[in-house]
Amino acid sequence: MTHHKVCVTGASGFLASWLIKRLLLSGYHVVGTVRDPANEAKLAHLWNLEGAKERLHLVKAELTEEGSFNDAIMGCEGVFHTASPVLGHITNPREEILKPAVDGTLNVLRSCKKNPSLRRVVFTSSSSTVRVKDKFDPEKPVDESSWSSVEICEKYQIWYVLSKTMAEKAAWEFCNENGINLVTLLPSFLVGPRETERFKWHGRMGYVHIDDVALCHILVYEHEKAQGRYLCSSTVIDNDELVSILSSRYPTLPIPKRFEQHDRPYYEFNTTKITSLGFKFKSIQEMFDDCITSLVAQGHLSIP
Ligand SMILES: NC(=O)c1ccc[n+]([C@@H]2O[C@H](COP(=O)([O-])OP(=O)(O)OC[C@H]3O[C@@H](n4cnc5c(N)ncnc54)[C@H](OP(=O)(O)O)[C@@H]3O)[C@@H](O)[C@H]2O)c1
Repeated sequence: MTHHKVCVTGASGFLASWLIKRLLLSGYHVVGTVRDPANEAKLAHLWNLEGAKERLHLVKAELTEEGSFNDAIMGCEGVFHTASPVLGHITNPREEILKPAVDGTLNVLRSCKKNPSLRRVVFTSSSSTVRVKDKFDPEKPVDESSWSSVEICEKYQIWYVLSKTMAEKAAWEFCNENGINLVTLLPSFLVGPRETERFKWHGRMGYVHIDDVALCHILVYEHEKAQGRYLCSSTVIDNDELVSILSSRYPTLPIPKRFEQHDRPYYEFNTTKITSLGFKFKSIQEMFDDCITSLVAQGHLSIP
């Protein structure tokens, strides 16, 4: 078992919590950064993880404060940078999304540069950074060589995608200039057990089990030959097809029959780059079964 120290930014988040769970189970020492270490209710699930009391350390850090990550990152061999603003109610997108995502990533990477123990940085990007563009060849699944168009994102004010695309590009530029070993992971929509019943439907979408995303972060961190970008997605599916699967699996749940149709291009993802490292994704049924089981267990949903 490996026991070296790694840092996970945004430790209290959905993805980071699962990543920390998997890192602790693999024997790592984890330094997690949070904005508010005094918020016991928000952090209780982390302290309940196996190995947390012995090998988890939480420290305060804020993306928009220069140098804020220095202490957390110093002495770590790996840094998983997951912290980034994820959709919510916003009034000033440049300040609230773009600045923390892009400048915050550079802030984290400047701390990485000061750390002589650093082996690799894994940056959590998003599959949205490859698929927002005006030309798709429906015959050719989208792979990691594709980038979303900054111009289209700006024109239609798709702030989240813009933030992830600009942050990943900035990370590549900084790491290439400064000799930092960077690998990026591009998950599609995360599904799995979680603490709230938040769901949004976006027409045709890629889906991936949260546990697979956590495992893929560790795979691309540990694999000697991992390099570049990795799409991380199990299945791309139209929302109407998804609800049809779900309603035949859960006939007593009030699942809509159809959704408003968006004029989105047909696309598939080519995930052979990560599957060729030996990874096998869980199915759409498994991710939604785990999600629904967890919602029932936590009292958010009851199955008649
Ligand atoms: N959810 C998805 O379907 C999905 C898909 C692809 C990629 N991703 C990426 O995965 C990562 C995690 O997403 P998630 O779904 O787990 O979202 P989440 O639960 O909202 O977690 C985001 C984390 O980022 C932290 N954060 C936000 N702004 C910050 C700031 N200014 N300073 C310090 N920390 C800040 C949050 O801290 P607080 O808890 O203090 O707010 C939170 O811990 C993000 O990079 C996201 O873009 C998510």
